[in-house]
Amino acid sequence: MVMLDQNGTFPPLKISTRGGHLYLFIWMRLSGGSTAGVSLGAVFGVLFFAICIYFVVYQRKRVAEGSLLLENGSKHVHDVNIGGTTNSDPLSGGAPPGATGITVDKSAEFTYEELATATNDFSLANKIGQGGFGVVYYGELRGEKTAIKKMDMQASKEFLAELKVLTHVHHLNLVRLIGYCVEDSLFLVYEFIGNGNLSQHLRGSSGREPIPWATRVQIALDSARGLEYIHEHTVPVYIHRDIKSPNILIDESFRAKVADFGLTKLIEVGSGSLQTRLVGTFGYMPPEYAQYGEVSPKIDVYAFGVVLFELISAKEAIVKTNEFGNESKGLVGLFEEVLILSDPSEGLRKLVDPRLGVDYPPDSVHKVSLLARACTHENPQLRPSMRSIVVALMTLSSSTEDWDVGSFYENQDLVQLMSGR
Ligand SMILES: Nc1ncnc2c1ncn2[C@@H]1O[C@H](COP(=O)(O)OP(=O)(O)O)[C@@H](O)[C@H]1O
Ligand SMILES: [Mg+2]
Repeated sequence: MVMLDQNGTFPPLKISTRGGHLYLFIWMRLSGGSTAGVSLGAVFGVLFFAICIYFVVYQRKRVAEGSLLLENGSKHVHDVNIGGTTNSDPLSGGAPPGATGITVDKSAEFTYEELATATNDFSLANKIGQGGFGVVYYGELRGEKTAIKKMDMQASKEFLAELKVLTHVHHLNLVRLIGYCVEDSLFLVYEFIGNGNLSQHLRGSSGREPIPWATRVQIALDSARGLEYIHEHTVPVYIHRDIKSPNILIDESFRAKVADFGLTKLIEVGSGSLQTRLVGTFGYMPPEYAQYGEVSPKIDVYAFGVVLFELISAKEAIVKTNEFGNESKGLVGLFEEVLILSDPSEGLRKLVDPRLGVDYPPDSVHKVSLLARACTHENPQLRPSMRSIVVALMTLSSSTEDWDVGSFYENQDLVQLMSGR
């Protein structure tokens, strides 16, 4: 994940304005003498000092003149670019070499001081999450509750991917980006989603009530809508590439939002599948991606299917199958063994989250498991699109909403009618 360019240095971070370009060399901030030799260190030290002075003077001048970050006649937007990367990732496709062309409202830029103050100097007490790329802190910023992700300078690619998607794409079921900061580390500032992530709800030990079945269906539908949006309604189309329960956030009303766009890739419409380096999480990757690196929106569909299996069973995507914990099975395989049976009802009952007790409609669970099975089909072309998944879940959720255990026992005929038996 450490990204060095051909010279073995860290890629430079460039903030460009219409009036000129300003280069901040990330590796200089990071080096502290560790990446450069002693003599080189002295030379670079002087250079760094000069650039710092230039930066400070230039920054002041820009602010003073009120000409900062002019674009299209507006004083409120500017470009954030990281240049010099040597990869051919389509993320930077379309933009000139060395520029990603991300335009951000100036008000979205935060200073390190603001973030440090809001998070009590990034104190442990303010820490609310940690993923593969950063630590997330709670903080109140400019009167708004926010989640602040602090990433290493080496994660510039993930930082830019996320910044790029979330400044272009807005949807109720995608986490909202408020701003960013590029001092000392890379920071992304999001709206704070106050009820943890889905993984914590399904498996966390912190005394949370089990999520009722109808709410699980709603969470599935919300996440499906977020994904449908990036797959089908944006130009270009995006593939998330890291759909999993820790990346689905839950708000106070138990509505879900898809988060963590650090591994997102954009594809041109109609480009079919393309090959790429493998990123993502074990247990959520479909075979064509894990084996051949083939990327298409269907890799998100597969991962979404695994999340559906998680919603049913509350199990991890990879399950330990013996007491010593040295044998594992994918959740997909575990469900497959049951769903191929002519009558899977008993096997399904054993797989359902024990915390649900008997408070679930077996028919609805069966239908969701069939949907999840379709999503995780070995052949990507036979997996449904996110659009048809949304339709399927909408149909299911409208029939699940009014469901309650009492009526289930009182009216067996109705239940049989619903399940088509
Ligand atoms: N906007 C947010 N509001 C509340 N919690 C969040 C928010 N964003 C992230 N988190 C918490 O931080 C964790 C890691 O965030 P994520 O964006 O997935 O980082 P990473 O890229 O390191 O995986 C999430 O699983 C979640 O628990
Ligand atoms: Mg994450």
